[in-house]
Amino acid sequence: MTRPEHVAIIMDGNGRWAVEKQRPRTFGHIKGAQTVKSIVTEAAKLDIKYLTLFAFSTENWRRPASEVDLLMRLLRRYLDNETENLMSENIRFRYIGNIAPLPEKVRERLSKTVDRTKSNTGMTLVLALNYGGRQEIVNTVRKILRDVKDHHLNPEAIDESIFSQYLDTAEYPDPDLLIRTSGESRISNFLLWQLSYTELYFTKKYWPDFKEEDLQDALNSFERRNRRFGATTPHTHPPLVVLSE
Ligand code: FPP
Repeated sequence: MTRPEHVAIIMDGNGRWAVEKQRPRTFGHIKGAQTVKSIVTEAAKLDIKYLTLFAFSTENWRRPASEVDLLMRLLRRYLDNETENLMSENIRFRYIGNIAPLPEKVRERLSKTVDRTKSNTGMTLVLALNYGGRQEIVNTVRKILRDVKDHHLNPEAIDESIFSQYLDTAEYPDPDLLIRTSGESRISNFLLWQLSYTELYFTKKYWPDFKEEDLQDALNSFERRNRRFGATTPHTHPPLVVLSE
């Protein structure tokens, strides 16, 4: 059974879920935060090694201040309430993205949770926070140029593997499977470099309705796919045609 080592999720549709129920969008985010808890637990149980969740994009600042504020409070509450569960589930917590503009209380909790869970050896949970794929690539170029300027790096030595080592995700393998909920079929500036060979799975379910069995459906779909990374697999090779002179 092929299980993806790394699953990334664009958690979309909180707002529409709430609006369809004639409730405020914020209610959708509260429900969405509950889904985060159950999916994290389930992914760890299913022996997924890395789970990356797009929790706040660089574009999300354009939302009304009250909505941004609620998302930050939910994040803080998640870190306050869930750190001990992460410990008992042996989950290591990390984040990617530029957290400098996040409220200090959130940043404090983030480093506390990273530190508290750093020796856990089970799944690694990565939250993408104030994250944008293009921004990450631009920052990577900047870091590389600095090292070239300081003579720590020879420009001729730069290849895909060196480039990857300067990304926020340097420590993690590329995702094997990307799930996006809510019926949209876009990447939306998520992990642009890292998704090159990732299997994409789109579901119409809104994030608050995404349950353990929906994760299982995505994993089943992944299993049925034949990943070739641009090559051919031996059993699908047509017989070689020998050209006569
Ligand atoms: C998309 O819904 C979701 C987000 C903006 C971010 C995800 C946030 C959560 C799941 C809640 C808190 C997170 C944690 C980690 C505790 P949307 O508002 O874009 O939905 P819409 O497209 O229907 O408007």
